Amino acid sequence: MENENIYILAIESSCDDTSAAVFRNNKKLSNFIANQSIHEAYGGVVPELASRAHQKNIVPVVDQALKTAGIKKEDLSAIAFTKGPGLLGSLLVGSSFAKSLAMGLNIPLIDVHHMQAHILAHFIDDNEKPAPQFPFLALTISGGHTQIIKVSNHFKMEVIGNTLDDAVGEAFDKCGKMMGLGYPAGPLIDKLAKQGDPDRFSFSKPNVKGLDFSFSGLKTAVLYFLQKERKQNPEFVEENIEDLCASFQKTVVEILMDKLRMAVKETGINRIAIGGGVSANSGIRNALKDAENKLGWDCYIPNFEYCLDNAAMIAIVGYYKYLNQEFTDFSTTSKARFEL
Ligand code: KG4
Ligand code: ZN
Repeated sequence: MENENIYILAIESSCDDTSAAVFRNNKKLSNFIANQSIHEAYGGVVPELASRAHQKNIVPVVDQALKTAGIKKEDLSAIAFTKGPGLLGSLLVGSSFAKSLAMGLNIPLIDVHHMQAHILAHFIDDNEKPAPQFPFLALTISGGHTQIIKVSNHFKMEVIGNTLDDAVGEAFDKCGKMMGLGYPAGPLIDKLAKQGDPDRFSFSKPNVKGLDFSFSGLKTAVLYFLQKERKQNPEFVEENIEDLCASFQKTVVEILMDKLRMAVKETGINRIAIGGGVSANSGIRNALKDAENKLGWDCYIPNFEYCLDNAAMIAIVGYYKYLNQEFTDFSTTSKARFEL
């Protein structure tokens, strides 16, 4: 095969989804995700079960990704994998697999930061909106992160705002659990909120200085509010679930948008890209479209396929690292905590 093209196989296994993707340069040839429904029964991800499910899924998922791409493993130029952050046992399954395959094929290995990948997902060439120009601001919102990042190039990223406690996805999941919703509650809240009145209930917003976030106060406010109302009417949540979800989601979106407005003012940058699981939320997507129309921002909202954890975003980082010849050696270790 001609070697002007770079073929990357990427593997993502940081949490509870096993995913593999194949890219030719910056274009996706395949992207497969195996979800682990086993955690639903426990109301959250059980790390030991997650790593076992990854072990079961990884070979068929990689096989599917290669077959769909029409690529033999001998055609690959390099293998990229998620180094962290994430659940250690889950990360180890992906990294061990990537290392063995790269070693067997005698091709380079590329380690990728999961949150950098959520940001660079905007550079996947899908013939849709072109990638954002540098510099831009990234709002990364997931089950483990809530950050505002100034992105100066593919590799230079500076965190200018961070959560002091819970991540926004965690707030969705924990508050949803209090309302009796299953795991993960984020998408369920989003769906129910569409039928509810966002102004029916009000929850106070945290008072945090600068560009940092806090969600633990909101979580406590929701808990006390539900306890109080349930005392008077045990069916309160069930009878008002849509309005509760809409009001909660509105508060979260306002918290995020307030900080983004502040970040735009401080940096003078009004190109905004969002990433991470919570970027699938219709409230935040609509608020950004609104900001484009009313404030003149230039917003980049990922396709749903690239919002949740996926290997395509790992592959695009792999591609840029390949161009820079940034390879890692086989002694590299997975990192549950990994600063950007
Ligand atoms: O990025 P991700 O797949 O995994 C992490 O790296 O954490 O994000 C998962 C998080 C979960 O907390 C989930 O509830 C949330 O993203 N999420 C949503 C929506 N879809 C996923 N939150 C609100 N609205 C959604 N539509
Ligand atoms: Zn993620």
